[in-house]
Amino acid sequence: MTSESDLSAWVKEAKLAITAASDLEALKLARLAHSGDKSPISLASRALGTMAPDDRASLGKIIGEAKNQVAALVAERASLLEAERDARVLLEEIVDITLPASRSTRGALHPITILKNEISDFFIAQGYGVAEGPELEAEWLNFDALNIPADHPARTMQDTFFVEPLDARLVLRTHTSPVQIRTMLEQDPPIYVICPGRTFRADELDATHTPVFHQVEGLVVDKGITMAHLKGTLDLFARKMFGDEAITRLRPSFFPFTEPSAEVDVFFNGRWIEWGGCGMVNPKVLTACGVDTETYSGFAFGMGLERTLMVRHGISDMHDIVEGDIRFSQTFGVGL
Ligand code: DAH
Repeated sequence: MTSESDLSAWVKEAKLAITAASDLEALKLARLAHSGDKSPISLASRALGTMAPDDRASLGKIIGEAKNQVAALVAERASLLEAERDARVLLEEIVDITLPASRSTRGALHPITILKNEISDFFIAQGYGVAEGPELEAEWLNFDALNIPADHPARTMQDTFFVEPLDARLVLRTHTSPVQIRTMLEQDPPIYVICPGRTFRADELDATHTPVFHQVEGLVVDKGITMAHLKGTLDLFARKMFGDEAITRLRPSFFPFTEPSAEVDVFFNGRWIEWGGCGMVNPKVLTACGVDTETYSGFAFGMGLERTLMVRHGISDMHDIVEGDIRFSQTFGVGL
């Protein structure tokens, strides 16, 4: 039968094991060994049932006290070990805000893209739509429909990229003007659109030329449109691009798809700069697109984006725009 000294010995053993437990896992094992179902104290407690009532009462009391002692020891040790663990975790998970940050290079939109967005936003705010057309264009839309005759020098192999098979009559569009035709064929007046996009000409890449470049076309067809509307629109556009001091001037010129036609110059940084072409849409072109010239008239203009960017930012070498070096783009801002 279990004696009082047995119990004090078990409590002593339990105390040793509990104090020796160096972490919560070890404490759990010690607790199971010394107060779990199979521990000597629990076995003795279970054996009480088979005892005479007097023995049971006295021994039961001692066993109960022993259990309480072990439980108290476990609780005391547990709170100590938990506090230790919490302190350690805090240290381990500490964030060292003095460490250097990892540097990732940020990309940037290409300055031509930024400019294109800027121009689009400007015209959209005035109620214009943005029209797009394919870069691989029907020769007919790139030239014939714009009243550019078959013997026009712009058509020759030197300027235009013709795409094989040649009898498919496809070219890499040499300007954004075919989008004017596409728009008028698809949409009835009133028409207010700009057409920004990529254009191609068989030029060598040098400081001022690139075979792949960008233009923005403007087209307005409505009742009572005059050259005054064109001039006013160009003035606003020029101020948006080159600042409030910018003024424009029109010089008589010739384009097959406009009549009359003009070169548009902009006065910027103390000198006149050739900026683009413009004019009243040639009635022949309007008629070919099914627009009634008795009711409607229109104006059009076209500018190079590379040229606009170079003038505005004093960029002297086209290579900088074409090469796409991130360090060049970043000087224009990220553009997002
Ligand atoms: N398409 C012409 C070019 O690439 C530019 C141009 C001139 C566009 C006059 C126009 C215009 O819309 O009216 O040289």
